[in-house]
Amino acid sequence: MLGTGLLLSTGNKWHSRRKLLTPTFHFNILKNFAVVMEERSRSFVRQLRETEGSEVEVASLIKDFTLYTICETAMGISLDLDKSEPALNYLDAVINIGPLILERSICFWLQSDLIYRSLPTGRRHEKYLKTIHSFADNLIHGRKQQRLRDMEEFETTEEDGVKRRLAFLDLLLEVESKGEIDLEGIREEVNTFMFEGHDTTANALIFGIMLLADHPEVQDKIREEYRKIVGEPDRAFTMSDFTEMKYLEAVIKETLRLYPSVPFIGRTVTEDFMLDDVLVRAGTQVAVRIYDLQRRQDLFPDPHDFKPERFLEADHRPFAFVPFSAGARNCIGQRFAMMEMKCVLSMICDNFRLESSIKNHRPALAADLVLRAVEPIHVRFVPR
Ligand code: HEM
Repeated sequence: MLGTGLLLSTGNKWHSRRKLLTPTFHFNILKNFAVVMEERSRSFVRQLRETEGSEVEVASLIKDFTLYTICETAMGISLDLDKSEPALNYLDAVINIGPLILERSICFWLQSDLIYRSLPTGRRHEKYLKTIHSFADNLIHGRKQQRLRDMEEFETTEEDGVKRRLAFLDLLLEVESKGEIDLEGIREEVNTFMFEGHDTTANALIFGIMLLADHPEVQDKIREEYRKIVGEPDRAFTMSDFTEMKYLEAVIKETLRLYPSVPFIGRTVTEDFMLDDVLVRAGTQVAVRIYDLQRRQDLFPDPHDFKPERFLEADHRPFAFVPFSAGARNCIGQRFAMMEMKCVLSMICDNFRLESSIKNHRPALAADLVLRAVEPIHVRFVPR
């Protein structure tokens, strides 16, 4: 599904793609995405108002929110408005292919292409993959044609950054016109952003809402900070608003410490090294267990307690807190994700009091493609 897009490529290909894609997360571009995030957040708040304070299952609502946001920012289409058959099939395929990828990755008997393709599960995977690829291909070609038609409207100026609302896809087409990436490469990257950019953020938000529902005092502080920064509730966000939301940032960090959406990452050791008194040889596969690292008593006192203040007080040890990984292969979308989470959580806390149905209930967890709660999480959004 992702081909050798940014997440899965190595060596020279990764290096040149990372260089090519880094500017797509530049401040001026993020400014554009903030507009989409704000619109989506406002519509999410309206949706929550309709629940009239009754209990809702958080996951499905949040997943739609992050999926629609990434669709609009990555591909420039509003899938909540587009109810055409290809769009609905695409959404269905993006949601349903995840468990199939996971199943294949852990079942040795499904590794052979020949066997996998002959099984019902392999055929379903093939069908979803075809849907995802043909939707992306049509969109890329359509957008390329449109881009050629109204070239002038897409022009940017140095002072105001981007004049018109551009998606990742438009930025990639810009690079394609200079011959630095081909259409196959664009498809890999659009699929990679779609894949990395919705489930990760969704689960962080689900856990965040669960924790907030148990901590009314934290909700109040987020609201207080929001009011101080934004003033009237209907004023549009500016980029500096997000930078100023220090308390909310600490809340999101504490959520990601307890519930890192990517609970472990894998690496291949490229040079022999000593890990204390153990020699780790080049070629060894290692798993970095982010979840366990961030719950170590020696690094984070009372490690299982939700204490956002710890991120406002003393600095933690370098590399003790790594929800977005660290170093050259860190998450390219972390600023995007933080902005999206700040946008929607601040609006939620400004509009609602969150109440959990079972106080301090901590669900069992599963680490499949991302960390998620096995049981549903129910919360009431009581209008303020
Ligand atoms: C709370 C949200 C997120 C978390 C916790 C998260 C976490 C991570 C982590 C731990 C990695 C390293 C993976 C590895 O080394 O195997 C990673 C890589 C990556 N992430 Fe995120 N991510 C989030 C949101 C996003 C978003 C919103 C996007 C895109 C819009 C994104 C795009 C990527 C990409 C493309 C990579 C690969 C980067 C590379 O290898 O150069 N992520 N992410």
